[in-house]
Amino acid sequence: MIDFHSHIIYGIDDGAKDIDMSLSMIENAKEEGTEYICATPHFILGNYEVSLEEYSSKIEELRAKSEINIVSGLEVYMDLKLPQLFKEKKIWGINNGPYMLIEFPMRDIPRYSNDVLYELSILGIKPIIAHPERNLKLMNNIDILEDWIEEGYLLQVNAGSLVGQYGKEPKDISEILAKRNMIHILGSDGHNDSRRKTNIKSGRDKLEEINPSLSTWIDNNQKKVLLGEYIELPEINELKKSSKSIFGFFKRK
Ligand SMILES: [Fe+2]
Repeated sequence: MIDFHSHIIYGIDDGAKDIDMSLSMIENAKEEGTEYICATPHFILGNYEVSLEEYSSKIEELRAKSEINIVSGLEVYMDLKLPQLFKEKKIWGINNGPYMLIEFPMRDIPRYSNDVLYELSILGIKPIIAHPERNLKLMNNIDILEDWIEEGYLLQVNAGSLVGQYGKEPKDISEILAKRNMIHILGSDGHNDSRRKTNIKSGRDKLEEINPSLSTWIDNNQKKVLLGEYIELPEINELKKSSKSIFGFFKRK
């Protein structure tokens, strides 16, 4: 199992507070059956701006003390300056490859987002949208996500969303995304070793229950994201009528 989203590196963002917590989160990931965990601290311009030097020295320190593979990455917050930051090598993708985890404000999608995502694509980046099921605008406008998938962008859903960790709406939306083949990778989004752990197994099992063929697709393709290889995304399923009405309930434009 691959956990594509975690805040296991201590002292960088609102994730692990110290090295002991980092190691306890990594131990928990191991118990969950995680073989690879991406260490993706927030990179939020003006708030959290980890340097490559600090990041590299801390990830090496954790690698030396861990029994699972720790893969580099960042959770980059949407900003007009992202293309420039990438050119300056101040932000980087998963395993220093083309796939980059990108986060949006919880309640909005800035109007320049499509331009920034497109510009990043021109620079060779393949955007992965972090936990869209937790964004208020996206959960009410799944058509935006359909357009992004058409562009070749990937969606990362939090495993916890599928089992209700964030409440009813993210759970319902993640179920719809699962049914519609609109989940490409999973992450724990673990922030600590108590309330938001590096758990992924129950969410992964839930996904398999909801859509076994998507689960198999993820098993067959997720490693390619780590390796920076091209993947063909599964076709988006249309919803049956009954599911559509659930979706309609959330659609309040
Ligand atoms: Fe996160």
